[in-house]
Amino acid sequence: MTVRTVAVLGAGIMGRGIAYVSALGGFQTHLQDLSEQALEQASQEVSALLERGVATGRVEEQAAVEARRRLRIVRGLAEAVREADLVVEAVSESMDLKIQLFAEVDRHAPRDAVLASNTSSLSITEMAAATERPSQVLGMHFFNPVHRMKLLEVVRALETSDATLSAALAAGAAMGKECVVVRESPGFVTSRINAMIGNEAFYLLQEGVAGARDIDRALKLGLNHPMGPFELVDLVGLDTRLSILRYLHRTLGEKFRPCPLMEQYVAAGRLGRKTGRGVYEYGET
Ligand SMILES: NC(=O)c1ccc[n+]([C@@H]2O[C@H](COP(=O)([O-])OP(=O)(O)OC[C@H]3O[C@@H](n4cnc5c(N)ncnc54)[C@H](O)[C@@H]3O)[C@@H](O)[C@H]2O)c1
Repeated sequence: MTVRTVAVLGAGIMGRGIAYVSALGGFQTHLQDLSEQALEQASQEVSALLERGVATGRVEEQAAVEARRRLRIVRGLAEAVREADLVVEAVSESMDLKIQLFAEVDRHAPRDAVLASNTSSLSITEMAAATERPSQVLGMHFFNPVHRMKLLEVVRALETSDATLSAALAAGAAMGKECVVVRESPGFVTSRINAMIGNEAFYLLQEGVAGARDIDRALKLGLNHPMGPFELVDLVGLDTRLSILRYLHRTLGEKFRPCPLMEQYVAAGRLGRKTGRGVYEYGET
């Protein structure tokens, strides 16, 4: 199967980034969301990213013009997926929502289309079971910010076929990503390790072992992490991280119990950069 048209469902932090690399990678790209505001912001952000890419010499001017032309903002789900060869779901991290969405996409997407989820941790096999094409379902786990991060973790679910895997690997490469194939397991490789580090950082903060800035500095300067765990969780979103931890706790056990301080931050609406306040303060967003 050759992918020409990609539908990206969900235009939040990840969806807009995936739409950007998809359009720049040469695919007709349909970006869909239920929220008019998310679509508006996504459209502006993709344009801004393209402009910055041109200004810094990373994107050819003509390539940027063509990418902008390939990107279509679409409001209806059926319209978004009707001509798609590859559908990448990037809606909020909720299994109920994803199952419902996969069932609906299955009804409207072409029979041979590949369906992918950008979930950070949830079971792709469970999403696949909501469709009549489980062999054509897999995980395509992009990283934040999508336009900068090289890795694409491609997740093989129980019934994913070789042809589906090949189609996703080829699309990922065209989007400029380097792929690592992993077998489905809660949190895959990256989210499982990342969630553990991020949770431990909150325990350190809660216990008063060190302040947030010093914990971040320690991991950057001592362990060579490019970002501190709090800088990273503010970028990812504390609500997204918490729902991943809850799932890992349920599936993999006690070592992933979410730190109460993180639960408190989320309850207070301190979700990270997207709300202007997480572990750190960001002023107006
Ligand atoms: N944030 C990260 O760093 C990161 C990294 C890798 C993977 N992910 C995964 O990507 C997915 C999206 O995360 P995000 O951070 O972009 O979330 P987000 O909250 O920024 O965006 C989610 C978007 O989905 C939309 N949405 C909700 N229900 C919808 C529906 N039924 N149809 C269409 N759109 C709908 C919302 O309006 C919102 O714009 C999650 O599964 C998350 O685990 C996130």
